[in-house]
Amino acid sequence: MSGPGTETIDRTEAAKRLPEFPALLEMALTAQSRARAPYSKFHVGAAVLAGSGRSYPGANVESASYGATICAERAAVVGAVAAGETSIAVCVVVTPTPEPSSPCGICRQLLMEFGPEMMVYAAAGEGDGVMAARLGDLLPAAFRSADLEDAGK
Ligand code: THU
Repeated sequence: MSGPGTETIDRTEAAKRLPEFPALLEMALTAQSRARAPYSKFHVGAAVLAGSGRSYPGANVESASYGATICAERAAVVGAVAAGETSIAVCVVVTPTPEPSSPCGICRQLLMEFGPEMMVYAAAGEGDGVMAARLGDLLPAAFRSADLEDAGK
């Protein structure tokens, strides 16, 4: 997946740019191996790097009522927030694909709660490619809390 504001690099380059990348990828790969995806068989793992410096894993969890499914990225955010984190700087996601695939729209919207400067690294589980993008470039013109505050003015 590529587009304006996104770059495709490799794992070595990602580690140069972000020293925590190898550990985050390892955490995401472990989470991916634990994903519960009996319907799609599309196992996704994620890891977020929070403001404290700690990292949190997430995996997709599917439901027989398909709409109740939660993506790996959102599961990682839930874990970080439940642990007391209030900021998230980086999200790494790994999909079982030959090329990186970008976080879905709902995940981008939830990640945006932590600001457009978050960096997203999407790694291909079956290849060396990594898509690197600033969240604000993945979700331009996002609906923000300021829109709620502007209501009725
Ligand atoms: N999925 C994720 O976990 N993250 C994404 O960004 C895209 C999709 C999951 C949801 C569902 O369990 C499966 O992948 C197929 O859509």
